[in-house]
Amino acid sequence: MGGEAEKWVLMVTARTPTNIAVIKYWGKRDETLILPINDSISVTLDPSHLCTTTTVSVSPSFDQDRMWLNGKEISLQGGRFQSCLREIRARAQDVEDKKKGIKINKEDWQKLNLHIASYNNFPTAAGLASSAAGLACLVFSLAKLMNLKEDNSQLSAIARQGSGSACRSLYGGFVKWCMGKEENGSDSLAVQLADEKHWDELVIIIAVVSAQQKETSSTSGMRDTVETSALIEHRAKEVVPKRITEMEGAIQNRDFATFTRLACTDSNQFHAVCLDTYPPIFYMNDTSHRIISCVEKWNRAEETPQVAYTFDAGPNAVMIARNRKTAALLLQRLLYNFPPQSDTDLDSYIIGDKSILQDAG
Ligand code: DP6
Repeated sequence: MGGEAEKWVLMVTARTPTNIAVIKYWGKRDETLILPINDSISVTLDPSHLCTTTTVSVSPSFDQDRMWLNGKEISLQGGRFQSCLREIRARAQDVEDKKKGIKINKEDWQKLNLHIASYNNFPTAAGLASSAAGLACLVFSLAKLMNLKEDNSQLSAIARQGSGSACRSLYGGFVKWCMGKEENGSDSLAVQLADEKHWDELVIIIAVVSAQQKETSSTSGMRDTVETSALIEHRAKEVVPKRITEMEGAIQNRDFATFTRLACTDSNQFHAVCLDTYPPIFYMNDTSHRIISCVEKWNRAEETPQVAYTFDAGPNAVMIARNRKTAALLLQRLLYNFPPQSDTDLDSYIIGDKSILQDAG
């Protein structure tokens, strides 16, 4: 370790977008390593609207690891944060900044403390996959700071231990989280199915039905589902494997009709297993249901589907329009039927494209 009077600070900032699953992850076979009961597929959004920006810094003057989320200090004591920090520190390499006269040997990372400041530009824990962007960004920025040699797929296995869906945010475009077979989770990682340039006419519109924090977290919700639902095993073993193969084909062939059928039915089945959980979990509300009816009615009136919808662990609707023209029409319909800030409960709209992982250097 070196540097003038040990007063130096070294920092890295990274920006990571969230991802939205079109074939859902719901249920773990290992709670600690975060190993899922089925594969899942997602689309990574563009970072302009839904992303986490994280600055990680290290200095010999820091006396403990500390983290701030949206300006408020949060505890780093949780097992998940600790798993990610441990895994990254174990892979840390030598770092040298000649300009600042800093040299950190890989063994030093065990003793040095970190300060982490993270900011979400969208509602946290409202079912907009904030943990996905957050944990992916944390792992990515720390990996840069500590000069890790691992590629994004290997980093995804670390992000997975922070939050399952986070592993898919290590890539842009279309991403598959392979559940893997190994007990130690070494093959439970994300792979990119197609990059962000593939199928770039798709437009994503998110209707923020409620920016309130959800009542049941994904973590406890899926644990209850695995313990009590009679349908979840059928979903994980029989339904999802076939959908994964079909969805991979739909993405490669830009087959919007198949993509829509799979994304919508998978979202509906995910909410069905939530209802089949005891006590039941309700993530969608009346406005969510009315949005589904509106899209279904439109798709049925056309020769071929125009819009796919999917809902995560919250009432907010993620809609994927087949192209820009359809996106404009969709927005028109939504604004007419669900004007923001009205009694429909709808807060706002977010519009974006698929995207690429951004490294702010
Ligand atoms: C409904 O990744 O938030 O968004 O692994 O316990 O942190 P943990 O859960 P999390 O669950 C996300 C569930 C989902 C579906 C999905 O993203 O695939």
